[in-house]
Amino acid sequence: MKKMIYLCASWYYHIATVATFITPSIQIRMKKIITYGTFDLLHRGHENLLMRAKALGDYLVVGVTSEAYDGNRGKLNVAQSLVERIENVKRTNLADEIIVEEYEGQKVNDILKHGIDVFVIGSDWLGKFDYLKEYCEVVYLERTAGVSSTQLRNENQMVEIGVIGSGRIAHRFITEAKYVSGLDVKGVYNPKINSAQSFCEQHKLSFYSDDLDDFIQKVDAVYVASPHLTHVSYIAHCLSKGKHVLCEKPMALSAHDATAMFDLARSRSLVLIEAIKTAYCPAFVHLMAIIKSGAIGEVKDIEASFSKLMHGNVRELDVNQAGGSMTELSSYVLLPIVKILGAEFSSIQFFSHVENSVDIFTKGLIAYKNATASFKVGLGVKTEGNLVISGTKGYAYVPAPWWKTEYFELRYEDLNHTMKYFYKFNEDGLRYEINDFVYQIKNPLMQNYKLQNSETIAIASIIEKFRSNEHVHFFQ
Ligand code: CTP
Repeated sequence: MKKMIYLCASWYYHIATVATFITPSIQIRMKKIITYGTFDLLHRGHENLLMRAKALGDYLVVGVTSEAYDGNRGKLNVAQSLVERIENVKRTNLADEIIVEEYEGQKVNDILKHGIDVFVIGSDWLGKFDYLKEYCEVVYLERTAGVSSTQLRNENQMVEIGVIGSGRIAHRFITEAKYVSGLDVKGVYNPKINSAQSFCEQHKLSFYSDDLDDFIQKVDAVYVASPHLTHVSYIAHCLSKGKHVLCEKPMALSAHDATAMFDLARSRSLVLIEAIKTAYCPAFVHLMAIIKSGAIGEVKDIEASFSKLMHGNVRELDVNQAGGSMTELSSYVLLPIVKILGAEFSSIQFFSHVENSVDIFTKGLIAYKNATASFKVGLGVKTEGNLVISGTKGYAYVPAPWWKTEYFELRYEDLNHTMKYFYKFNEDGLRYEINDFVYQIKNPLMQNYKLQNSETIAIASIIEKFRSNEHVHFFQ
C-alpha cells in the first residue's frame, strides 16, 4: 500500500512538471519544442542547436533517427549505434524527452501526439520542412560553421581508394562512392593511359596511371572493375602490396582461385570482398534473415531468373573475355541459392543456347539432399526476372528487378496472412557494398555476414563447372 501511494505521488509529480505548471487556480501550458537529428559523434554544432532549441520554449523533445531509417534515406556509415547516439543527446542534459524517429512522415504524427508548438531544425534544411507549418511554428536555426558528423567520421580514418579499370561500372562506382563517408576515391589505373586520363578528368580525381605499382602505392584500397579474366591477377597483386580489395563479380572463375585469394587476404589481414550489390542491399539482407528465421517453413525450392539483352561487339558477348550469360549474370541468381541452401548440392545440370561461342541463355537445375533450385540467365533470351523461394509454410515472392531488392512478399495459403515489405533501393545501389567494404576495413574484427567467403567460393565453383562443360547440355 505504502508503495502504491509513493508511485501515485511520483506519477503526479511527473505530470505536474512535465505537462503543465500547476498553480492552485490557473494552469499555464508549457511551450513544447521538437527537433530531430542523427546526433552521430556528438559535436558542438549539435549542442549549440539543442541549446538554442531549448531556449525557444519550456520542454524539448529530441527525435534521434533509427539505424533502419537512416539506411533507408541513404545516410550510410553512421559511426555510432542508436543507443550510443541517444546517450549522446542525454549527456547534453538539454532534452526533456528523447524519441526515436523510425519512418518518413513520423514528424507530423509526433507533433500532433506530443502537442508541439515549435519544430526546430538547422539551416541546412531551410525550406524542407515548411509543410509542417500547418501543424506548428517552424524555425530554422543557423547551422554552426566548421563542424559536422561527416567531417568527424572522415577525420577518424579516411580510406583512400583507387579504381582499376574505367568502364561503365567504374563510372557508376564513382557516383555511388560519394554517398559513403570515410572513403575518398583518389585515382584510376588503366593500361591504356588515354582511357585512364579521360576518366580521371571526367571525375576530377587526383591522379591516373598506367603503371600498376605506382598506382597501388598511392592508395589504401583498390576497386577492381576490369574484365573478368584479369580479376585474380589484380587481386593477388594488390593484396601482396598490402591493399584491401573490392572486386567486381565474378571475383574468380574457379573455386581454387577464389579460395587462394581469400587465403592470401586472411594471411595479410586485409579485406577482400566480392562486389555482388544484391548481397548488401538492405531489403535482400532482411529477406535472407526472414527466410532463415523460418517464416515460410523449411525451404524446398528456389527459382531465380535474370536476363539483360545485349547486342553487338560488347565484352559481355566476347568469348575471349569470358563473356556469356553464366559469367555475366549467374552471380546474382546463385546468390540466394547458396545463401539459403548452401554449397553442398548432390547434382547440377546446365542447358545452354550458344551463339558465337558464348551462352546467350543458360538454365540450371541443382539438386540438394532435401531441396531443389533452378535458375535462368540470359543475355540473348528475355525471361521474367523474379525470385521465388518456396517453403513448407509459404513462399517468398520478389518481383523483377529482385537483384535490386525494393519490395517482397511472403505469401501463404490464407491470403489474409500475406506480408508485404517495402524498402528503398537507392539509385544504382553500389553504395551498400562500398559502405560495407569501408566498414570491414575500419572494423577488422567484424564478420562479413552479408556475403561470406564460402558463398563467393560456392558461386565460383558453379561457374567453373559450367565453363569446364561439366553436365552442360548444349542446344544445336
Ligand atoms: N547541426 C548544426 N550545426 C552543425 C551540424 C548540425 O546546427 N554544424 C544541426 C543540424 O542542422 C540538425 C541537427 O544539428 O538540425 C542534427 O544534425 P545531424 O544530421 O545529426 O548532424 P550533422 O553533423 O549535420 O550530421 P551529418 O554530417 O551526418 O549530416
